[in-house]
Amino acid sequence: MSPVHPVEQLRPDGRLRHLLTLKGVPAGTLTQLLDAADAYGADASGGTALRSRLAGRQVCTLFFEASTRTRSSFYLAATRLGADTLNFDVSTSSTTKGETALDTMRTIEAMGVDCFIVRHAENDAVAALAAGARPGTVFVNAGDGRAAHPTQGLLDMLTVRRHKGREFSKLRFAIVGDIRHSRVARTDLHALRTLGAGEIRVCGPAGLLPDAHELHGCTVAPDLDAALDGVDVVMMLRLQRERMQEGLVPSLEAYYAAYGLSPERLRRAAKDAIVMHPGPMNRCVEIADAVADGAQSVILEQVANGVAVRMAVLEAVLAP
Ligand code: NCD
Repeated sequence: MSPVHPVEQLRPDGRLRHLLTLKGVPAGTLTQLLDAADAYGADASGGTALRSRLAGRQVCTLFFEASTRTRSSFYLAATRLGADTLNFDVSTSSTTKGETALDTMRTIEAMGVDCFIVRHAENDAVAALAAGARPGTVFVNAGDGRAAHPTQGLLDMLTVRRHKGREFSKLRFAIVGDIRHSRVARTDLHALRTLGAGEIRVCGPAGLLPDAHELHGCTVAPDLDAALDGVDVVMMLRLQRERMQEGLVPSLEAYYAAYGLSPERLRRAAKDAIVMHPGPMNRCVEIADAVADGAQSVILEQVANGVAVRMAVLEAVLAP
């Protein structure tokens, strides 16, 4: 799917019309969204004070790919802001009878839905749906193919900021694993560059690194120990076997031996380094249990921050 007309996600005044990607979103806009997410405080975890903010708005989660965290947290975010929220279940819908994503979206749109939160297996699918919608219908990308996952990028930046402060220029980051297939890694790279990260190291098997032009501003570490040496933030990634050709990884045991984050390996990073993972984790493939559940892990905080970030994004694109 490619957009018939290119869709502009920023309004002329710099505010968000849609959120399709973090590529090209200015640092000021990112910071405003992160500040807004920060400001929700307890209301992001179930408070009721904000229930009128998006009253009367109709939001639909439209996921053509599996999801646990992203879909649930968008649903909760929309509900906590008082929007009417429809969780559209593709697996029991007419998609199974061959209806296209565009026809599905237009059908729900005709019922009065004015915001779609979309996940799809193809790159640029969300922009294509936005291009085919009525003017004024808003789209938020919840992950398209390998391309983008902007709210994950924002919640990752919020998690870093809450632990390490706002001066990203002082921080060293390692991004480890299957970067080639990861919309999360691509999105985090855009955000980290925009926010001025001090150093970004990437590390993974040669077949799982992206093309060189996607790695500008990064150093490719020769091995995991070199990647981890002294870093403040370790971002681990899931091995995306569903997007992979056979043979890119010799065996899961060999992968863990070379790129798995064990407690011993983590000692190479700064003492107070945080460990992140977008989930879902392949335990004992990319990360040891003792690290995933250990004192330096902020993986469940990432999940919690996801609700606040998604509230901030929905408010930015939908509030009057
Ligand atoms: C990720 C995704 O779907 O892009 N999960 C998530 O949204 N937290 C990462 C993954 O699937 O590995």
